[in-house]
Amino acid sequence: MLLLSIETSCDETAVSLIKAEGEFPNATYEILGDALWSQIDIHREYGGVFPALAKREHAATIVPMLEKAIRESGLEANGFTPTIDQDTEAKVRALLDREHGLADQLLTFHREHGVYTIDLIAVTSGPGLEPALWVGVNFAKAVALLWDIPVIPVNHMEGHILASIFDVERDDQLSAIAFPTIALLISGGHTELIAMTDWGQYEKIGQTRDDAVGEAFDKVARMVGIPYPGGPEISKLAAEARKQKLPPYASLPIPMLHSGDLDFSFSGLKTAVRYAVQNKSLTPDEIKSLARDFEDAVTTVLVKKTLTAIEKQGAKTLIVGGGVSANQYIKQIMEAALLTAYPDVTCYFPHPGLSTDNSIMIALAGHARAAGAIAPTATDIIRANGNRSLA
Ligand code: KG4
Ligand code: ZN
Repeated sequence: MLLLSIETSCDETAVSLIKAEGEFPNATYEILGDALWSQIDIHREYGGVFPALAKREHAATIVPMLEKAIRESGLEANGFTPTIDQDTEAKVRALLDREHGLADQLLTFHREHGVYTIDLIAVTSGPGLEPALWVGVNFAKAVALLWDIPVIPVNHMEGHILASIFDVERDDQLSAIAFPTIALLISGGHTELIAMTDWGQYEKIGQTRDDAVGEAFDKVARMVGIPYPGGPEISKLAAEARKQKLPPYASLPIPMLHSGDLDFSFSGLKTAVRYAVQNKSLTPDEIKSLARDFEDAVTTVLVKKTLTAIEKQGAKTLIVGGGVSANQYIKQIMEAALLTAYPDVTCYFPHPGLSTDNSIMIALAGHARAAGAIAPTATDIIRANGNRSLA
């Protein structure tokens, strides 16, 4: 099965072409084309993702990303000069009406290239920034109409779970997952513990009551003058503090550590950091220490609650996913704690490049859900944020 996948939920515009052979989870996957445009530089001056800008940028770059993914794949169009009936053209224009210039770009691409034979379009339909999601969803619907391809709406968080397991070098990764499984999803918008009894069977057993962990990293970064998204830089500074064995800068709380449930809260920790830096001018070493104090507090609570979740569910597998799962310190401490407490639990963190948003993970989730695909003429039932939650 040849899948075209589209991701526009936040600040990455990504399109991939993936060949899947076999049924999920026993399939093998080949990445034929993978195009990703990050808007981070554009949002940096706003200190976070600005939805209206994200939407505009997705609309401006999605056809070039489609073109790049197709070119990389070497896929050829069917060779016929495409004719578009008036009705289809009108529908495509109506779908892309609110994305300035996008209908013309897509129709021009279609006229120049022709029809590609693709079996399924997978598109992120949520959770995410609604204006950004709509660009991808409507674009998927328009391509589906032009090339007569069914569409499967995909949950972004299910994509993160699959991305953490996926290994392009190995075919048996997905089929080897033993249930019950715990997924810890940590990103700019989410901090969740999910219990999985099988593929597609999710129960949310813990979540943040306020800020997401990535959001806390970004806000702390901003307080010490590091631009968005500051998570990776805070982690780099924390690693230097550990290497230099710098003394602690602040005594920070570890929120919800003893709350007795599986929920998280990061706004108190963030406020404690704010008090620690308020009206002060920190030296570079003090910033490093503070970054480490913060990362330590976050890691302690993430590890403790995850181990509790594993215990409660009798889990055999732990999957850590989302942008913050790129954090090497969290990975190191989590893996060490697991080895001590639950040496039989297999732990998955994503390969570099698959932790932050991408469209490979959307293709995987689309393939897992392929049976629920929606006919190109019936795609009006797909809504942005229609499947906001995994569980
Ligand atoms: O999953 P993602 O790409 O987008 C969302 O769906 O939110 O996650 C982005 C988040 C940002 O908050 C970013 O600062 C954080 O992931 N992040 C990190 C690291 N790399 C990315 N946070 C801490 N340490 C990292 N190494
Ligand atoms: Zn994400």
